[in-house]
Amino acid sequence: MGKLDKKVAVITGAASGIGRATAIRFAGEGAAVVIADLNREGGEAAVRDCRENGGSAVFQLADVSSEEDIKGAVDRAVKEFGRLDIIYNNAGLGGAVGPLEKTSAENWDRSFSILLRAVFLGIKHATPEMRKQGGGSIISTASIAGIRGAAGLHAYCAAKAGVISLSRSAAIELAKDKIRVNCICPGLIATPLTYNRIPGGEQTATQLFAAFQPWPRAGRPEDIAAMALFLASDDSEFVSGQAMVVDGAVTSGMVGGNLPQAQSGTSILDDEWSGPSFQMKRPS
Ligand SMILES: NC(=O)c1ccc[n+]([C@@H]2O[C@H](COP(=O)([O-])OP(=O)(O)OC[C@H]3O[C@@H](n4cnc5c(N)ncnc54)[C@H](O)[C@@H]3O)[C@@H](O)[C@H]2O)c1
Repeated sequence: MGKLDKKVAVITGAASGIGRATAIRFAGEGAAVVIADLNREGGEAAVRDCRENGGSAVFQLADVSSEEDIKGAVDRAVKEFGRLDIIYNNAGLGGAVGPLEKTSAENWDRSFSILLRAVFLGIKHATPEMRKQGGGSIISTASIAGIRGAAGLHAYCAAKAGVISLSRSAAIELAKDKIRVNCICPGLIATPLTYNRIPGGEQTATQLFAAFQPWPRAGRPEDIAAMALFLASDDSEFVSGQAMVVDGAVTSGMVGGNLPQAQSGTSILDDEWSGPSFQMKRPS
């Protein structure tokens, strides 16, 4: 028996990366999935992957910056599979990047319409259908960029912080309807979103990410899909309003613990006691 038997899910941005891996995982656990994305070719390939993994899936062409398209994805789930239990608001992009002074208000607004407004609209249109079923699980992809800053990613960081905040306020409002609202904060995950901009592509990106974070490998879309499955399933029945960080410990601190160690491989913290500073001798 699968963890999502008889459940119906809408996943936005499921033609690629995290959304696609999650759709395949959900399908393998018995869910019927609506793959909602701008990318028809990738979306149809994801449908085939889901079916090969044992589940039902359909593709719905949708631009998450359109309220009509988001409602259309929810309606498609009900029309095709009879109900809606899970929505994963995941579609995303880098959006407005670069220095603040060079960021246009238009690109700022476009970023917010895809990264934050679409999450609000997903919650808004999924709620009435979930209420009819006596509950449901709403999941959104935030980011560690929503809890830490990143120069040049101002709109992205601010929008992802908004996703975390919105998940909390919606969780409070919808708890009485047994609708849980959580988000996931991925760290550096090797997907086309990250590696298509890096010279050397996927191979270089996975090496860079592995070196940058304490866990000695790059994050994979499947790492996020596993958390999404937990949040979608009844295993997380008492979990709501949370931002689940899945990041190979990158937000926990620096690789190697201290700068000299990271630079030379020798630590200044390998003795047993660090005494008062006036008694300390600087290592030569
Ligand atoms: N990859 C990472 O390191 C990382 C880290 C933190 C958060 N995230 C977030 O994870 C989510 C998924 O990203 P990914 O890394 O899998 O990237 P990806 O590019 O592989 O997948 C994103 C998907 O969203 C779709 N999409 C983009 N704009 C859309 C729109 N307007 N309407 C409908 N679909 C649209 C794309 O077509 C694509 O299929 C995003 O919200 C992203 O911000 C990614």
